[in-house]
Amino acid sequence: MSFPTTRLRRLRSTEVTRNMIRETKLTRDDLIMPLFVRYGQNVKNPISSMPGNYQLSVDLLVEECKRLYNKGVQSILLFGIPEHKDEHGLVACQENGIVQQAARAIKKAVPQLFIVADVCNCEYTTHGHCGTIIDGDVDNDSTLITLSKQSVSLAESGVDMIAPSDMMDGRVAAIRAALDENSFKNMPIMAYSAKYASAFYGPFRDAAESAPQFGNRATYQMDPANSNEAIREVELDIFEGADIVMVKPALSYLDIIRRVKDEFNIPIAAYNVSGEFSMIKAAAEKGWIDEERITLEVLTSIKRAGSDVIISYHTQDVVDKL
Ligand code: PBG
Repeated sequence: MSFPTTRLRRLRSTEVTRNMIRETKLTRDDLIMPLFVRYGQNVKNPISSMPGNYQLSVDLLVEECKRLYNKGVQSILLFGIPEHKDEHGLVACQENGIVQQAARAIKKAVPQLFIVADVCNCEYTTHGHCGTIIDGDVDNDSTLITLSKQSVSLAESGVDMIAPSDMMDGRVAAIRAALDENSFKNMPIMAYSAKYASAFYGPFRDAAESAPQFGNRATYQMDPANSNEAIREVELDIFEGADIVMVKPALSYLDIIRRVKDEFNIPIAAYNVSGEFSMIKAAAEKGWIDEERITLEVLTSIKRAGSDVIISYHTQDVVDKL
């Protein structure tokens, strides 16, 4: 049946029918807000390339978590900026590590807030790479040891989910085994499975003070030109025990999200990363775009592509509009 019998505009003609047939609905349940915790007291350092985001010391982070929770944010993703860094990122494996301190304090003050902990070494190593350096490159298998230790330590501090973002081979299996051996069988793992070596992480590296001091991350993060390889990465992570698989960044990779959705039956997360956020903020500051509409359109498109979970710095701006 075609025109004039079929007229798709009929159901677009009123708000009620538009709402009735809407295929994708963004909700508060979908969103995770990333936060940066820094050593010190009473610290609130604005991140200049990410308006509205701060490096916060534990005391102020707790206040921020209360504010966000009251606004409707249900889940946060924590990144830490430690006072001292070391060769291997061991500072992140300690009971008094910065994220561990933050998790304990948040769980005391806002126990219902769901805490996801990013697991990686780049914020904790002197060289800014995601693992232990041997012969000028990140050594995969020795890095699995620090990632596993960091994960167990974070679990002990009370976080609700572990999210490895390092892109080492075999890390989901290693972390799963370490968690299971330490009585954390029920701790879910959200793996950054298809994580690309992307220029969109630029503002984040200022925020987390995690830029590599030499070279780049191309020997471990994925080539932005590849799609089949993303399927292999996701398949391996599922096989190793990931509970949620992630595609990152989101917007230049909506095709990858859709492919993963079509090929696997597993919850998918997408990371709407710092550069994607900052571009919208910058254009909005110039008055070139309608920030609220664009933000909702972007987040809806990520969900429409197939993502169940969306990690986004926009969360705090949109959560009370959903
Ligand atoms: C740590 C990590 C990064 C991001 C999340 N976890 C940076 C990187 O890989 O260099 C980026 C997040 C963002 O840009 O918002 N490995």
